[in-house]
Amino acid sequence: MHRIIYTAAIAMASLILSSCGGGEKKTLPPPKHVSESAKMASPEDAMKNWKSNKGIGPVTNVELGAINQEMALDGQKIYEEMCTACHKVDKKFIGPAPKGLLERRTPEWIMNMILNPEEMVKNDPIAKQLLVEANGAPMANQNLTQDQARKVLEYIRTL
Ligand code: HEC
Repeated sequence: MHRIIYTAAIAMASLILSSCGGGEKKTLPPPKHVSESAKMASPEDAMKNWKSNKGIGPVTNVELGAINQEMALDGQKIYEEMCTACHKVDKKFIGPAPKGLLERRTPEWIMNMILNPEEMVKNDPIAKQLLVEANGAPMANQNLTQDQARKVLEYIRTL
């Protein structure tokens, strides 16, 4: 009998102690789906190392030559139809402004963000940070073909 009371008392005491943690937040372990490299990179490092980040998705290599005006014009039409609901050219809107984007993202990364945003915001360190900055509003997959995404990229190069 004494033993039961004693055990109960200890249980109560530890309960009280653990619930009076001085308002400290418990840090949760990172979710399992996050890749090792994404877990390691701090947002600052991820942004700084953009040149070596091609993103996650179907696009692994894009060669950029002189701007192809015809492609850019096609890209502009696609952009105006599918993207302006959330993106303004030179001002942050729901999503970031694409002006000067090639100075902070690789062409492969940009196309993968257009073609595969769901996986990008989950596992790519830069896209994850952008999602935070957009207050959790996710970039929408507009189901562009790779060819359309390439044309939009060409248009973005002209901004
Ligand atoms: C429903 C709103 C929405 C639509 C539509 C949308 N986007 Fe986005 N986009 C976002 C948000 C929000 C982000 C920031 C990342 C996030 O929160 O997921 C983003 C991020 C991006 C980025 C990365 C920007 C950066 O600074 O690195 C690119 C590139 C992009 N979008 C291109 C496009 C293109 C091209 C289209 C049209 C085919 C498009 N987006 C349509 C909301 C949208």
